[in-house]
Amino acid sequence: MNEEQRRDASKVSQKKEEKDYSQYFQHVYQPPNLRDARKRGKTEVDYISDFKIEERFRNLGKERKFYIRTYGCQMNMHDTEVMAGIFTALGYEATDNTEDADVILLNTCAIRENAENKVFGEIGNLKHVKQNNPEVLIGVCGCMAQEEAVVNKILKSYQNVDIIFGTHNIHRLPNILDEAYMSKEKVIEVWSKEGDVIENLPKVREGGTKAWVNIMYGCDKFCTYCIVPFTRGKERSRLPEDILEEVRDLAARGYQEVTLLGQNVNSYGKDLDLDYDLGDLMRAVSETDMPRVRFTTSHPWDFTDNLIEVLATGGNLMPHIHLPVQSGNNAVLKIMGRKYTREEYLELVHKIRTAMPDVALTTDIIVGYPNETEEQFQDTMSLYQEVGFEHAYTYIYSPREGTPAARMEDNVSDQDKKDRLHRLNRMVTHYTRDTLQKFEGEVVEVLCEGPSKKRDDIYAGYTDKMKLVNFTSPGDEVIGKIVKVKVTEAMNYSLMGEFVEVIEHEKVEA
Ligand code: 5AD
Ligand code: SF4
Repeated sequence: MNEEQRRDASKVSQKKEEKDYSQYFQHVYQPPNLRDARKRGKTEVDYISDFKIEERFRNLGKERKFYIRTYGCQMNMHDTEVMAGIFTALGYEATDNTEDADVILLNTCAIRENAENKVFGEIGNLKHVKQNNPEVLIGVCGCMAQEEAVVNKILKSYQNVDIIFGTHNIHRLPNILDEAYMSKEKVIEVWSKEGDVIENLPKVREGGTKAWVNIMYGCDKFCTYCIVPFTRGKERSRLPEDILEEVRDLAARGYQEVTLLGQNVNSYGKDLDLDYDLGDLMRAVSETDMPRVRFTTSHPWDFTDNLIEVLATGGNLMPHIHLPVQSGNNAVLKIMGRKYTREEYLELVHKIRTAMPDVALTTDIIVGYPNETEEQFQDTMSLYQEVGFEHAYTYIYSPREGTPAARMEDNVSDQDKKDRLHRLNRMVTHYTRDTLQKFEGEVVEVLCEGPSKKRDDIYAGYTDKMKLVNFTSPGDEVIGKIVKVKVTEAMNYSLMGEFVEVIEHEKVEA
């Protein structure tokens, strides 16, 4: 079967009255399966730069509105911007009211069970929207759509869902919508093959100040708890020149900050056979006109000396590194499949801090891994103190069907897990507050995004080290600019301050 036929075969339209769904999944879905997933090769990624919206779809959105709700990580937020771009190119208008919408999409996250439960709750809530407006199309996309069990559950229990498509099918949105209107059947399109790299998809970005830029897709690390390598497929890097062109174009259009995105950016370039890594890419991006450059998320395993050397040159490369550690105990790190030890992590932190004494380090931590002992948890607490992270995102381990960790027996009670999270969070809050207090009286550089969420006369933005600052300013002219702000007070999670002056950004000579 060639690729075209395989794709056709993996696309199914299903009549709403169908009751036995199982037959459809053999070729539509590959349920998360470690053995098969690990077999994926280095070939078969197509680079497509001539993506076009077909003329026959151009009027699909005439007098129609779309609404997208996004769950989860930055990758999903950026996928939403691409889908908004496609909807707009099809003639749809955006709305932020589900009652007004002709198409509602839930762009979902599968990373933990509670993320999934929120989505199921929301699908349930949308029943009344469908009752009021039976013509509305309700769709589920994103990471949950890549999971067989989730799709089965939706088909069985949530009749109000009309469309399901996966993370590799976003560019097929025009075809999927067209089919949903034409056939009046449920449209399910989930490719288990990792997607191609498609270059010129339209995008409607949220705000005109900061932009996400994908540098790679997928993840090959297979940490034993993580569903991402299954829902997002194998690692595929974009070509350096395509990334640089996007960054230069954003700079020319006045964007002040880009965040280079990938599930595991430190693997950037490994699949390209170009002898070009993230350090090389950061060096090239640092030479563009973009005032601020960030990247996320890093895996400590491939954090190279080249990258550290480049980051240490500063300039438009922001002094903040998010470096998920997950645990401070070697035995737990080993069963997590993280492939570094506590000592190696600390050595990396030491190297980074030697090159960049003023760097802000933040992390992710999972507590309550299967069979984690109190002593092992204490190693995580002591590592946190030893590094003195400025902030952390902390989670209770959540079993994900199909991952190796989900098959492990677990003797840690829910109460112990909650208790560990609570103790860790108390420490995290203490360090966060302590870090923020050190800024009191200092002048910081803030990229102003607009009025603060609570008050129109107060403006908000982030410092180079990613601290949220709310500040007073004489007027709107600060919006979209990098400004100096004097910090007057540290709150628990943010800083208060007063506007000092706008910083003029010097253009890099071509
Ligand atoms: N359970 C709990 N936390 C998880 N993460 C990823 N998978 C799981 C899981 N199954 C956390 C990790 C990761 C962050 C994005 O989410 O800490 O770095
Ligand atoms: Fe998941 Fe990140 Fe590990 Fe990849 S590196 S498997 S995305 S935790």
